[in-house]
Amino acid sequence: MKKSDLVTSILKNQSAKAAAPAEAEAYASANIALIKYWGKRDQELNLPNTSSLSISLSVFGTRTRVKHTKGSDKIFLNKKKLAASDGFVLRIRRFLDLFRSKNEYYEINTLNTVPTAAGLASSASGFAALVKALNDFYAWGLGPRELSILARLGSGSACRSIEEGFVLWNCGIRKDGMDSFAEKIDIRWPELAIGVIMLSTEKKKISSREGMQRTVETSVLYHSWQQKVEQDLARLKQALENKDIALLGQTAESNALSMHATALAAWPPVCYWQPKSLEMIQRVWALRHQGLGLYLTMDAGANIKLLFKSGIEKVVKNHFPTVECIYPFK
Ligand code: DP6
Repeated sequence: MKKSDLVTSILKNQSAKAAAPAEAEAYASANIALIKYWGKRDQELNLPNTSSLSISLSVFGTRTRVKHTKGSDKIFLNKKKLAASDGFVLRIRRFLDLFRSKNEYYEINTLNTVPTAAGLASSASGFAALVKALNDFYAWGLGPRELSILARLGSGSACRSIEEGFVLWNCGIRKDGMDSFAEKIDIRWPELAIGVIMLSTEKKKISSREGMQRTVETSVLYHSWQQKVEQDLARLKQALENKDIALLGQTAESNALSMHATALAAWPPVCYWQPKSLEMIQRVWALRHQGLGLYLTMDAGANIKLLFKSGIEKVVKNHFPTVECIYPFK
C-alpha cells in the first residue's frame, strides 16, 4: 500500500468540522524510547516489527506554524529560510505532497526548542507537530489515533510524539497499518529524570532507516532481538506500575545495548558508538557498582541519555558536568 492511499482513506470522511483558519500552529515534544523500535515490516508505511515504549521530553520539542503561500513552498527552521535543496526541506515537502492539491503551497515555520547542543532527534517531534498543525489548518478534526498514524508516515518514532508522557506504540499486524499507532499510558512519574550527555553534534553516517534495514536483513541476532523486546515490554510496564527505577533502568539499558549489539552483528557492521560513548557507559557502570541508581539508554547515535530519580541529580551533575537534565512530568 502507498502512503498516499492510506492518507486518502484516513481523510475521506473528514469534511472540515469547522471553518479552516488562515494559519495554524502546534507543538509536539521529542521522545526517547525506553524500549526501542528497530526494524520495519513495511518500509513505505514505517510499520515496525515490534512494539516500542517511550517517554516524552515535555518542553523539549518542536513548534510548527503552517499557512498557504504562492508559487513554491517556503520552509523556515529556527527562523532561517532553508534552501530548496536542503535535505530537511526535501523530506518535509515530500511529506506535504501527501496532503496538498495541485498548485497548493505552504509556508512552514519550524522552531526546535530542543537545545541543538542536546543532540536529541527532532524528526519525531517535527513530524508530529506538523501533523497536528495540519489537522487544525484543514480543520480535519482527527483524533490522536489517526494523527499518530499520519505522523508515523513521516518518521516511525514520530507517532509516539503526538501524546505526552509514557507512550506505547503497538506494532499492529494489519497490512494497511491502521492498527499501528501510539497510545498514552496513564501513569505520571514526577521524580523521573532524563540526563542528556552530548558527545557529538556530527550528523550520523548511517541513518536510523538504513541502519535498521541492514540489521533486519543481515544480523543473525535479529530474531533474538524481537523476542527480547517482548520480554522487555512486559518488564517495563511492571516498572512503571510500581515506579521501580531499578527495573525501569535495567530494562531500558539492557534493551538499548541489545539493539546496538544486534546492529553490530549486521554486515557491514552498524556502529553508532564513539570512544567517548564507551567511556561514559563505563562511568555509569562504575557509579552503579558503588550503589548509585543510575542507568542509560542510547539511540542511533553516539550520545548517552541517563535515567535516574530526582534525588541524585546533584551527584549526577558532579560526575557528568555537561549533562542536561529533563523532567518529563514537571
Ligand atoms: C534508535 O523513527 O528515526 O531512535 O521510521 O526510518 O524515520 P524512521 O526511523 P526513526 O528511528 C528511530 C530509531 C531509534 C529508536 C526509537 O526511537 O524507538
